[in-house]
Amino acid sequence: KTITWSPLMAEKSGYRHFMLKEIHEQPRAIADTLAGRISENKAEIILNDIQLSTSCLTGIDRLYLIACGTSWHAALVGKFLIEKLARIPVEVDIASEFRYRDPLINSRCLTLVISQSGETADTLAALRQARTQGAPVLAICNVVESSIARESDGVIYTHAGPEIGVASTKAFTTQLIALVLFTLFLAQQRKTLADSQRQELIAALMSLPRLVEEVLQLDEAIEQTVRPYLHARDFLYLGRGNQYPIALEGALKLKEISYIHAEGYPAGEMKHGPIALIDEDLPVLVLAIKNATFAKVCANLEEVHARGGQIFIVSDCDCSDLRALAREYFIIPTTHDDLMPILTSIPLQLLAYHLAVLKGTDVDQPRNLAKSVTVE
Ligand code: G6P
Repeated sequence: KTITWSPLMAEKSGYRHFMLKEIHEQPRAIADTLAGRISENKAEIILNDIQLSTSCLTGIDRLYLIACGTSWHAALVGKFLIEKLARIPVEVDIASEFRYRDPLINSRCLTLVISQSGETADTLAALRQARTQGAPVLAICNVVESSIARESDGVIYTHAGPEIGVASTKAFTTQLIALVLFTLFLAQQRKTLADSQRQELIAALMSLPRLVEEVLQLDEAIEQTVRPYLHARDFLYLGRGNQYPIALEGALKLKEISYIHAEGYPAGEMKHGPIALIDEDLPVLVLAIKNATFAKVCANLEEVHARGGQIFIVSDCDCSDLRALAREYFIIPTTHDDLMPILTSIPLQLLAYHLAVLKGTDVDQPRNLAKSVTVE
């Protein structure tokens, strides 16, 4: 009998690429990021690693969320979570922009930097700037003892494990988990959320690994749909509310590994420009989640359909009206709306992955990109 596995493949546990392995590791990575952070009676969040006193957390009047790339998309989701559940205004900044705009920051502004590697030069520089101006600094990081982790007052580690693929997947979804945990902790300290609401979210968090496992079952179906889109020049990704950052992240994944141009847009803003691009050659992926803006998203979808766009739908609702409009329709399970971005990001990772594999690009090491960017 011959051995058909190379040592490198063994590291990939039989997966063709690290990226695919990491996509499939998400249920485990999410469970590990939750582990030890929910009280035994499932009523409270425990974040011992934060190192900031209750008086500091109740005394702040604004938050700055700062990051680059995929981590910046996590920060955009974080704004929705924190403003809605902990009722504090949040500014989100791209790290390379932050320093140069003379930010209004002081000791009552908590700065939360988000970085998978903990070594991104722009994010580190922004952190130092915030500290110089007297702000307490927290980090969400995946790499223990990284520069950003060491220079922050406190760290919430994502327990995603090593991420080798340049395009971030499990680090992103675990950053979203860390943001939910942090938000609930903040809400707990600031008493902005009824116990029952917090417990409902905690219960939903605990069932996420199982739901992510369910979403991953779309893998083959997505692989089978990509061929007709191999030569697409552009893709448009649309979402509203907390799904808008996921549209941005889906578009980034596609650009990074398949080299197909893609743009993420708030669905309601489409009529102010991108609608001019829609024709029979444009695939348009729409995140249609059954929440307060569902009817609005459906109306946007019809506008795309009327112009001949090739519609991909990712939805938690199997609806015949939508099915009639869609070329491709991916149904995912549903959960608490604040957690839906974690589920919707996964089919978008798989779509980018399978298109890139079909194109034959170097999925784990795409051209011109680095896993961690240590120049400003
Ligand atoms: C690079 C990587 C991206 C990542 C970004 C920020 O551009 O290719 O995947 O999102 O840096 O990295 P960080 O480690 O700070 O999250």
